[in-house]
Amino acid sequence: MKATSVAPANIAFIKYWGKTDPETRIPQNNSISMNLSRMTTTTTVEFSQSFASDDVIFDGEKMVTEKERARVVATLDRVRENGGSRLRAKVKTRNTFPKAVGIASSASGFASLTQAALAALGTTLPEKDLSMLARLSSGTAARSIPDGFVEWDKGTGPGDSYAYSIYEPGYWDICDVVAVVSKSMKKISSTEGHALAVTSPFYGIRMEGMDKKLTAIKASMDSKNFSVFGRIIEDEAMNMHAVCMTSAPPILYWESTTVTVVKNVMHWRETREIESYVTIDAGPSVHVICRTTDSDTIAARLKSVPGVIDAVINHPARGARITGEHLF
Ligand code: PMV
Repeated sequence: MKATSVAPANIAFIKYWGKTDPETRIPQNNSISMNLSRMTTTTTVEFSQSFASDDVIFDGEKMVTEKERARVVATLDRVRENGGSRLRAKVKTRNTFPKAVGIASSASGFASLTQAALAALGTTLPEKDLSMLARLSSGTAARSIPDGFVEWDKGTGPGDSYAYSIYEPGYWDICDVVAVVSKSMKKISSTEGHALAVTSPFYGIRMEGMDKKLTAIKASMDSKNFSVFGRIIEDEAMNMHAVCMTSAPPILYWESTTVTVVKNVMHWRETREIESYVTIDAGPSVHVICRTTDSDTIAARLKSVPGVIDAVINHPARGARITGEHLF
């Protein structure tokens, strides 16, 4: 009764920011993302009659907060309900990247936890249902289930809001070079941020332009037009962060190094040295999206920016998968 899953983090090109139903995590709009090859979470789950309570271990970290533990237990409860089980579990999870720095640790974490827990109970679900079950734990986890480039359709309600692959990982030779900016935990969680989004005077404007933006980005991906695609994703990141900064209270996820990296990327583009574009999730790290052929140069340049802790090259990756390499 033990199973292990590895799931990728994902970077959103069109962001999920704001929910129509916080309880079941129904987003205001469809979002589009890419799975990240080098930013993954591995989770092993074992159910046993000999366990009196759920035991949760985050590998390499001293403690699991009560809030974090409760979210893991809530996920286990949903899986137990699905499988008709009352068994308690031991859960061990390991990230290849620091938590809560804008690299969607909740996406990879809850995608791998959901998949591993289901498998540990001997149950499987079709990808669509697995994506919906993961969504209930973390919205972005829904997008870490399918392969490659993914769209999360907001659907009409809890029963049809799930993510699916729009292109396989090998479809397009682009990379996400993540400039890791700070290892400190962010102060305002994305859960709080989603709830505050509607308080921004710009939120309505953001939503008005969304359908057009989704159509435009899909056309640029269909035709692999990197320049058009890049401009759309950079505009979109600024748009989401403008909403964050004008929420009440305002949320500023950026650090000074975030701004330095963004300005560098823009400068390399203006001087025609390298064409790459930035996007930023709910944290200070900057995701530099580039052609694969430019990724080594960009990583080297990013590493020399003061304040950048690391630069990690991510290729488009598969979604969550079961592995035999258990953590215990
Ligand atoms: O899954 P959450 O609640 O952490 O949402 C985070 C949303 C963003 O990362 C900011 C954008 C996105 O679509 O990934």
